[in-house]
Amino acid sequence: MRRVIPLAARCSTVPTLQQRKSNKAKEKKQKRLEERAAMDAVCAKVEAANKLEDPLTAFPVFKKYDRNGLDLTIECRRVSALSSDTLEWAYELTRSNMQALYEQSEWGWKEREKREEMRDDRAWYLLARDGSAAPVAFSHFRFDVECGDEVLYCYEVQLESRVRRKGLGKFLIQILQLIANSTQMKKVVLTVFKHNHGAYQFFREALQFEIDETSPSMSGCCGDDCSYEILSRRTKFGEGVQHAHSGGHCGGCCH
Ligand SMILES: CC(C)(COP(=O)(O)OP(=O)(O)OC[C@H]1O[C@@H](n2cnc3c(N)ncnc32)[C@H](O)[C@@H]1OP(=O)(O)O)[C@@H](O)C(=O)NCCC(=O)NCCS
Repeated sequence: MRRVIPLAARCSTVPTLQQRKSNKAKEKKQKRLEERAAMDAVCAKVEAANKLEDPLTAFPVFKKYDRNGLDLTIECRRVSALSSDTLEWAYELTRSNMQALYEQSEWGWKEREKREEMRDDRAWYLLARDGSAAPVAFSHFRFDVECGDEVLYCYEVQLESRVRRKGLGKFLIQILQLIANSTQMKKVVLTVFKHNHGAYQFFREALQFEIDETSPSMSGCCGDDCSYEILSRRTKFGEGVQHAHSGGHCGGCCH
């Protein structure tokens, strides 16, 4: 039997309404598949980074810090490899450095939450120890997905007061940048209180961190009311990456 082809379809190159709908559906499906493949690739990078034994293995020169009167060793470990004494020291240092600053913010200081965050399975630690193996500084970081990007999120960088202003903080952040590059993360991200003036200057001026596109002041969400900024510094894998949601709200605010 001969199929009757509508006149419009026979005589014209203009697609019918049905064809247009079907093309749109195909395009949408293709876009969904591409988005899923991109997200799988992002997650694969985070998983690969989390499987590393020691992200510092390839950079032995960064395992020592002997400048400005300090002589320290630096190690990089998963939280599961830290002793409970070291974790307790890290919590106490964070509390003594940060409690008052948290209390001046909309977050307040919440001991249980902070302890849980610091013990989370995904946590990695950079630790600086002195000649007697006593810890003097640390950074808690994670490989994570933020707004569709693979990032190294720096949760804390905390130094005992006796080792500050000797370049150690800068050195630890440089190591994070190095690890982020070597694991193909797109950027190093962190949150800083606007009223933590020293740290704000340290990141923005000395280390040239930028205000991240997900920061409240960029997304327009409660900008001036928020007491913190999200800062970031791109790696070579994040250079030139701009998001379609740039300027939009992406979960970076008021959480
Ligand atoms: C913020 C912190 C990590 C900086 O580490 P640090 O080792 O003391 O800093 P560095 O010696 O590497 O400083 C590098 C440069 O940053 C700037 N900087 C550092 N601390 C600063 C401060 N308190 N005020 C102003 N600028 C500062 C300076 O330009 C400095 O260079 P300079 O010493 O030659 O002037 C450290 O002071 C710290 O642990 N503070 C308490 C905890 C904290 O606030 N952590 C950050 C949470 S977001």
